[in-house]
Amino acid sequence: MHFNTLLLSLASTAIATATPAPARLWATHYSGDVYTLELAQNNLTIKQTLKTCGDMPSWLTLDSKTRTVYCSNEDGTTDPSTHGSLTALRAAQDGQLREIAVTDTVGGGVNSVIYEAGKGKKFLAIAHYGGAAVSTFSLPIKKDQPALQAFHFNLTHPGKVAQQDSSHPHEVFLDPTGSFILSPDLGADLLRTWSIDEYSGKLEECPSTNVTFGSGPRHAVFWTDGTDKTTGGATHERKLASVGKTMLYLVNEIGGTMMVYDVSYSRSGCLSLEKKQTIVPYPKGVMPKGATPAGIKRVGNALYVSIRSDQKYKPNDSMVVLDRSPKDGLVKVRNSTSAYGKVPRTFVINRAGDLVAIGNQASANVAIVRRDQKTGNLGEQVAVLQVGEPGKVGTAEGLSSVIWDE
Ligand SMILES: *[C@@H]1O[C@H](CO)[C@@H](O)[C@H](O)[C@H]1NC(C)=O
Ligand SMILES: *[C@@H]1O[C@H](CO)[C@@H](O)[C@H](O)[C@H]1NC(C)=O
Ligand SMILES: *[C@@H]1O[C@H](CO)[C@@H](O)[C@H](O)[C@H]1NC(C)=O
Ligand SMILES: *[C@@H]1O[C@H](CO)[C@@H](O)[C@H](O)[C@H]1NC(C)=O
Ligand SMILES: *[C@@H]1O[C@H](CO)[C@@H](O)[C@H](O)[C@H]1NC(C)=O
Repeated sequence: MHFNTLLLSLASTAIATATPAPARLWATHYSGDVYTLELAQNNLTIKQTLKTCGDMPSWLTLDSKTRTVYCSNEDGTTDPSTHGSLTALRAAQDGQLREIAVTDTVGGGVNSVIYEAGKGKKFLAIAHYGGAAVSTFSLPIKKDQPALQAFHFNLTHPGKVAQQDSSHPHEVFLDPTGSFILSPDLGADLLRTWSIDEYSGKLEECPSTNVTFGSGPRHAVFWTDGTDKTTGGATHERKLASVGKTMLYLVNEIGGTMMVYDVSYSRSGCLSLEKKQTIVPYPKGVMPKGATPAGIKRVGNALYVSIRSDQKYKPNDSMVVLDRSPKDGLVKVRNSTSAYGKVPRTFVINRAGDLVAIGNQASANVAIVRRDQKTGNLGEQVAVLQVGEPGKVGTAEGLSSVIWDE
C-alpha cells in the first residue's frame, strides 16, 4: 500500500468512528408510497419515495439475510373478483428499494411473517383482514406466483359489534420455537393456530383458542424463559420437548383489554393456551371512550402498548408501558408517555433497545423516541418527520407502518 493511500484510509477510519453510521427505516403510506428514511445525528430525513406495493401499502416484513422487503397491499375484500398483492423489494445497503417481483394475493393483507421449514427453505404467511383469510407463499416469490395455501374463514356466530361482521385476521406471528403460527382474528374473537409442517412448510390447522366475546383480538407477543436451546435443525418433536416456560400477551382492540396466557406444548403436535389474567392496559385501569389498543412489543420484562385516539397528550395519543412480574408473568401498568402523533398504529423498538420508532397513522409522522435500556422507560422525542399526507382518524388513510432496517 502506498503511504498516501494508507493515510487516506486511516483518515476515513477516524471519520467513520467519529460519526456513527446512520440508522435506516422503511415506512408505508396508504396513498401508495413506500419510504426509505434515514436517522443521522438525530435528524430524520426521507431518502427515497417509491410508488410501489399497489394502491394501499399496509405492512413491511424484512428478510435481513437476503435483504428483501416484502410489502402487503391491503386492497381487496372477501369478494373473489377483488385482490390484494405482495411485492418483493430488493434493499440496497443504503436502504434504497427496488421492486423485484409482484404477485396477486387474497384481498386485505395487513401483516406478514417469514418462517422456515424443510432445511432452511423460507415461506411468508399473510393475515388478510378484509379478505377474512390467512395465506402462505414460498420464498423468494416470482412474478405472479400463486399462494402455497389460503385458509378462508366464515363466522360461525355473529360478533358483538359491526366491525365483527366477518372474520378479520389482524396479524400472523411465530411462536418462540418457530414451529407454530398464530393469528388473532378480530372479527371471530379467536386466536387461530397452525403447526408448520417441518418438511413442506405447509400449515396444518390446530384447535383455535376462544377469546372473550367482543374482545376483537389484534396483536400479541410471546415471552420465554430462554431455556429453549434447540437449533434450526432440530425436529419438531425434539424442539417441543426441550422448550421452557412460555407465555403470551395479547391486546384486544374492541374490548380494550390485554390478556396473559400460559402456553403449553403437547406431544400431539399443537400448543394450548390457558388464560391467567385480563387487564386494561391503561393507567388507572380505564380505557378512555373511543380509545383502542393497537400494537404490542416486549423487551425483557417491559411491555409496550400503543393506544389510538385517547388524546391524553393532546394533540397526540399515548404509549403505555407495563411491567411483567418475573415471579408469575402477570402484568401491571407502569405509566404512559406521548406517542408524538395521532393514531399510533404501529411502532418498532430497535435491536439495541435504545430507540423506538412510532408510526402515527392519522398525523402521518414517524417519531423516534428514546428508550432507557436499563429501566425500559420511554423518554423524549429524538426526531420526528412528516411522511406523506395526514389521514382522517378512523379511515384507512395516512401512514400504515414503519420498520427498522436491521
Ligand atoms: C436535517 O437534514 C435535512 C436534509 O439534509 C436538512 O435540510 C436539515 O437542515 C437538517 N436538520 C437539522 C436539524 O440538522
Ligand atoms: C363460507 O361461506 C361461503 C358462502 O356461504 C361458502 O361458499 C364457503 O364455502 C364457506 N367457507 C368455509 C370455509 O366454510
Ligand atoms: C369456543 O366457542 C365455541 C362457540 O361459542 C364453542 O362451541 C366451543 O365449545 C368453545 N371452545 C372452548 C374450548 O371453550
Ligand atoms: C414512568 O415511570 C418511571 C418509573 O416509575 C419513572 O421513572 C418515569 O419518570 C415515569 N415516566 C412518566 C412520563 O411518568
Ligand atoms: C405532539 O407531537 C408533536 C410532534 O412530534 C410534538 O412536537 C409535540 O410536542 C407533542 N405534544 C405533546 C403534548 O406530546
